[in-house]
Amino acid sequence: MNSQETALDPRPEKGIFPLEYLKAQGKRINQKLKDIDWNKFKNLPLKERAEYFNLDGEPYHLIFAQQFTREYIDRLCKVANALRKVRRDESASMKVPLVAANLQASIYFGQSSTRTRRSFESACAALGIDSFLVQDATTSSQSKGETELDTIQTLVSYGEFLIMRHKEARLAEKASHHLARTNRPVPVINGGSGTDQHPTQALLDIYTLIYTFEEKGGLDGKKVALVGDLKNGRTIKSLAYLLSLYEGVEIVFCAPDEFQILPDEQVLKDLDAAGVKYTYSGDFEEILKTSDAVYMTRIQDEYDETGKTQKSFANEYCLTPDKFDLVGPQTYILHPLPRRDEIHHAFDNDERALYWRQVRNGMWIRAAILIMLMGWDTKILD
Ligand code: NCD
Repeated sequence: MNSQETALDPRPEKGIFPLEYLKAQGKRINQKLKDIDWNKFKNLPLKERAEYFNLDGEPYHLIFAQQFTREYIDRLCKVANALRKVRRDESASMKVPLVAANLQASIYFGQSSTRTRRSFESACAALGIDSFLVQDATTSSQSKGETELDTIQTLVSYGEFLIMRHKEARLAEKASHHLARTNRPVPVINGGSGTDQHPTQALLDIYTLIYTFEEKGGLDGKKVALVGDLKNGRTIKSLAYLLSLYEGVEIVFCAPDEFQILPDEQVLKDLDAAGVKYTYSGDFEEILKTSDAVYMTRIQDEYDETGKTQKSFANEYCLTPDKFDLVGPQTYILHPLPRRDEIHHAFDNDERALYWRQVRNGMWIRAAILIMLMGWDTKILD
């Protein structure tokens, strides 16, 4: 028997089954959260709230980037790498689905998605977890007047995980607080909550950066520019926090004034507290020349109810063919996608273009998240 087969062997004598583990963790989270009501809870500082969703320093409900430590991220990346290897190894690949073959995940996406939804579905499939999608509230009982929280409680009655996305900021947080007070406090994974957080995207972004800079001195000390709609974009807020966990990282917020990150954003307070150097810029060309990584984003006009927001950035903030030569030889370009005009498709096959790798990495990092939640990482790594 090779070592991978041993590592992924799901027989009970090798360790606690995922379902048993999840139930035990659910009871513990319940204990922590049940005595604090939402009105009190919602006004606590984010760092304190984050602690309520963690067990032993690791997320159980995965809601904000501020829940993660560098140790957690390192371990997650190792699990993602291990899963990748197992997939490539034909003899071991049959073992992976057995890990969680009796579990189900409800995917509740009240906001559009291609990559996050599909990569979660693929991640579940890779581990043998059945996933069920409720994508549109108009086809659920919400059209009959049911509340979001009742819909959510219903969906978790049929599964061991809830993966959710919603246009309302903080709904995932509210859902996890609510579920922890029921008898089915299953892990809630935030797949994007309004304009505030997108923690699993940040994890796949950081995984991509770590992987890319592995042989280039690591992520410590790198200059990372976040470009685009920094006012409404949730990906950059979660990512900026994760970047702050790396020594000497410098962050540049590059956007036209009307899309610049708002001064009262939580993440700026976190960067200040961590002593991270960050600056603001309106000079995209300079950013392309001098950064180690440039993370582009689109305009988030879906949050503008007046419909007046422009749909695309002026060419000045787009990586158009005339700017390809400005991109530094060691400067990598990322984008959470979907893109509009921010990056011309002719750049896609450049080795500095990381966005299609991010898409694939999303599946592995999300599978790794599920493995860590089930406590199965020890079986894979130790
Ligand atoms: C992002 C999102 O939904 O916030 N997309 C994604 O999850 N890959 C970015 C975006 O929609 O612009």
